[in-house]
Amino acid sequence: MKKITFLFFTSLVLILTISSCTQNTYDDIEAEADPIPEIVTYQDVKPIIDGVCLACHSNPPQNGAPMSLVSYVNVKEAVQNRDLINKISKNEGEDGLMPLGGPRLPQSSIDLIVEWNNDGLLEN
Ligand code: HEC
Repeated sequence: MKKITFLFFTSLVLILTISSCTQNTYDDIEAEADPIPEIVTYQDVKPIIDGVCLACHSNPPQNGAPMSLVSYVNVKEAVQNRDLINKISKNEGEDGLMPLGGPRLPQSSIDLIVEWNNDGLLEN
């Protein structure tokens, strides 16, 4: 009887040990997404603008902002004709930094908007 009990527990431990070895593929490990998509479109940029800039650049604009940034065409036009990238890239506290009064956007958001411009300001 003792022998059977011993055998039972030994095989239990063995089974648990073997079954706890899982398989990790390289796909699992590489699943951490690259923060900048291959081609950046307005869909990637919109959440940043909506979350920060619309406090003033709404439609109609508030707090003395000269234009709204609510649509793809608005934002594209501001990059092309209103120096948007230069304004978000200024240093903290520097004159003309957007968002007005700071804080400066996180560098990753600025990089994303710069990349959007480099990729041709696509909508989708
Ligand atoms: C607190 C209000 C406020 C917020 C938030 C804000 N802006 Fe502005 N923005 C202004 C005002 C006021 C002006 C006009 C005065 C100036 O240029 O400093 C302006 C001007 C601009 C201009 C220049 C327009 C021109 O024709 O000269 C751009 C581009 C701009 N903002 C982009 C942005 C972006 C992008 C964001 C978000 C990252 C943002 N702003 C957030 C108030 C704001």
